[in-house]
Amino acid sequence: MKPDFDFIPRKTATVRTLHRCIKTPIPVPESIPLFREMEKYEIHASMGQPPIVWHHTEDGYKICDPYGNKWIDFSSAIFIANAGHGNSEIRAAIHKTVDKPLLASFIFATEERVEAAKEYISVCPIPDAKVHMLSSGSEVCELALKIMRVYGVRKDPKKRVIVTFRDSFHGRTLGAQQLGGVESQKDWITARDPDILQAPYPTAYEHCWADPENPGFDEERMFRSFLDVLDKNGVDHDRVCGVFIESYHAPLCAPLPVSYAKRLRAFCDEHDALLGMDEIQIGGCRSGRFWCFENYGILPDLFTAGKSTSSSLPQSCIFGRRELMDVFPAQSLASTHSGSPVCSAASAASIRFLRDNRMWEAAAEKGKIMEERLRQIQSRHWNRVAYVGGIGMGWNIHFADREKKPQPEFTREVLLRCLETGLLFSAPNNHDSSLRCMPPLTMPNDALEEGLDVLDTAIARADAEMPPYRRE
Ligand SMILES: Cc1ncc(COP(=O)(O)O)c(C=O)c1O
Repeated sequence: MKPDFDFIPRKTATVRTLHRCIKTPIPVPESIPLFREMEKYEIHASMGQPPIVWHHTEDGYKICDPYGNKWIDFSSAIFIANAGHGNSEIRAAIHKTVDKPLLASFIFATEERVEAAKEYISVCPIPDAKVHMLSSGSEVCELALKIMRVYGVRKDPKKRVIVTFRDSFHGRTLGAQQLGGVESQKDWITARDPDILQAPYPTAYEHCWADPENPGFDEERMFRSFLDVLDKNGVDHDRVCGVFIESYHAPLCAPLPVSYAKRLRAFCDEHDALLGMDEIQIGGCRSGRFWCFENYGILPDLFTAGKSTSSSLPQSCIFGRRELMDVFPAQSLASTHSGSPVCSAASAASIRFLRDNRMWEAAAEKGKIMEERLRQIQSRHWNRVAYVGGIGMGWNIHFADREKKPQPEFTREVLLRCLETGLLFSAPNNHDSSLRCMPPLTMPNDALEEGLDVLDTAIARADAEMPPYRRE
């Protein structure tokens, strides 16, 4: 069952703490006309988030509605607000640009775009790298596909195979969706690119051979799962022009096993293929390093970023070695809003904030609190929680039965109880049965702990009131 949210207000008990305030039924009855208008004018696909109206932030980690309620935010507006919502330094940079008041420049030179490019490069560990700015994550993943293909076919027209990973997500446009590994999202594509293949992502929850804690852990078998995809499709390894992988597996917030990451790097080196990584979700300090791949001791040839790099306005980017990026003639990758001065000012300020405040250290420290508390929650609610996993301040709690059957109804009930007691999640992912815990990296420890307490209580209450998971 899809966990759509209805607009029937549920009674709440008043909550008032330093970090939270709930004083109306949820959804707020006065807010319902707004949702009805949204439903009327926007497409159904824009619906589906928990029914609260975002109005302003307090202190960058609380989301407030117009009716006096406020929530501790565990959503970060889906991995955007790493520097905190409405970060004052980012706002000042945006204001300065808006007050000029020049709002757009196509790709004419502006000080803002050059400043953003310089700040991006200052945090890019690839030596002698270049950056290209676009607007959405899907666009930069599309461009990654193009760069890998161009790299391969210029050497040999047969060198055009790209390997990506099952259940991965790289965006919703034609190429990005094909790079992605969710079959149900691709059923509209009538002529699929036959040279994009998908290997299993080595996650410990799904494969015992990828779980270093499991006696069945088997490094050889783990990497064999990648090679098998090529062999079963009769692809000579030298025909691979690129491997494109999320730096952590977003559906489960699962980091890559280090040895696997190193084997992928070695495979690409041996077969002259490009290793591309997608940092759109976990990049920007959340993993405990500026970029998640830094946790694995490898460097990709190119990587995509977005969401948190601006911590606010729509700008994405792709980094890569100079010789890969500079093969395209002037203007050939132009996009109307590429390097928009306002978005660039926001990104430059965000990168400066994240870098100068060493926000990766904050994420690593607070991540330890998250890990410890979430593991306690898992052992306390073992009958409801099948998995917790993550890295730094990106964690997933997955509700499933012992046979790993997802439990969307229970998950929705937990989410609603959190919402009614002042903790905000975005809609569940991963079979509608996972809640992603991804607070702004600026959240103080006491608010983080309070949020985790709220989650714990919500699970306990849902457990007491919902029937046990049904056996088939
Ligand atoms: C890992 C990853 N790649 C790509 C995208 C696509 O980004 P956008 O929604 O900005 O197109 C997303 C978005 O959620 C993502 O999580």
